[in-house]
Amino acid sequence: MTEEDPAPRRHPFAPIPEWAGVTTRLVHGARRPEHNAGAVVPPIYQTSTFHFPAEHSEAAGPGQVYLYTRLGNPAFEGPAEAIRALEGGEQARLFATGMGAITATVLSLVRSGDQVVALDELYGSTLDLLTELLPRFGVRVRLVSLAEASEPEKLVTPGTRLVWLESPTNPKLSVVDVRRWAEVADDRHALLAVDNTFATPINQRPLALGADLVVHSATKYLGGHSDLLAGAVVGPSALMERIDAKGYLGASPDPFAAFLLERSLKTLALRVARQNENGRRVADALARHPAVREVYYPGRNSPEEEQIAARQMSGRGGMVSLTLRGGAAAVDPFLHRLRFVHIASSLGSVQSLASVPAITSHRHLSATELSARGIDPGMVRLSLGIEEPEDLVRDLTEALDAVTVEPTAPL
Ligand SMILES: Cc1ncc(COP(=O)(O)O)c(C=O)c1O
Repeated sequence: MTEEDPAPRRHPFAPIPEWAGVTTRLVHGARRPEHNAGAVVPPIYQTSTFHFPAEHSEAAGPGQVYLYTRLGNPAFEGPAEAIRALEGGEQARLFATGMGAITATVLSLVRSGDQVVALDELYGSTLDLLTELLPRFGVRVRLVSLAEASEPEKLVTPGTRLVWLESPTNPKLSVVDVRRWAEVADDRHALLAVDNTFATPINQRPLALGADLVVHSATKYLGGHSDLLAGAVVGPSALMERIDAKGYLGASPDPFAAFLLERSLKTLALRVARQNENGRRVADALARHPAVREVYYPGRNSPEEEQIAARQMSGRGGMVSLTLRGGAAAVDPFLHRLRFVHIASSLGSVQSLASVPAITSHRHLSATELSARGIDPGMVRLSLGIEEPEDLVRDLTEALDAVTVEPTAPL
């Protein structure tokens, strides 16, 4: 190489080639040379408003001119683009929380007289939104059980505007056939939205299965460190442009949360790979332990679910639920012996968390409703983190050993 013939220099923010894999994209994806003065890590843009010269008086969209952070901030673009690419949609929007994303989606798409069909095993606040708020505006909501969910053609009618699903479900981690629901919804001209929080786009991509919209509580796996609140919606531009298009629902994220989310997404694929391994190893170990009556893990609830999970999930995730043979009385002795599993609601973090659905996420249900859904008071839901699988198995096994119900004396 002569001085006159220098090696060609690649622009540090050149577009990412088509062949790059998921983690390469997450690490190098958000390139905003025009904003970040070449910084390898984009700044936080902790500002509520922006200088707005008179020549920009025609309001423009994201990336062109910023007006006010509720309507857009450069810090939102990197994480939104990463989530859009992960889910394979045309557009993504960030929200302050998962519920902000869900509320904006639902309220923007339904009107008086419409019907919403939803699984009755949804996240509690989503259920509350559907069953308490929507009927006040003349929207009919039909909740369906998992057993009914195997026959969507009997549930989605020509009056159905929106179908809302989660898969795997909370807390029994049942798998719902998203493709089948998508076909039926499409046939009846209803929209299908899937809350993909539990699965993550690393393990499941509902849009590729035919769903119209995907929502996330990015507070969970996407954020991944129990240190931020955020939500996201992904879908085709024509629908996305209708979801709180004017920003009056107001659930925009804070720039700092968006910055943390962008940081977190770079390690999403690595974290989820470990969480998938931890989920599988812990589910296997729990299934062998005499103190455990039942283990719930995606695909293991029935042979039919295994077939659906094998078709629609590339990994089964880090959520595992169990019921203790000793019932509710065994829950505290078990949980208080755990060294690496924090007792806390929420999920998807690097550290393992445990919660008791009957007194946390499902506390609004009566004893009869809990039993109808098979949610035992001795059920514990685990969200496994990225600790070593051996450490988690040992920690859980030792805690279970201490609560093992004494076997009856041998004959
Ligand atoms: C499946 C699911 N969807 C939505 C939400 C709501 O998310 P956020 O707490 O970020 O509003 C949660 C929260 O636990 C959840 O588990």
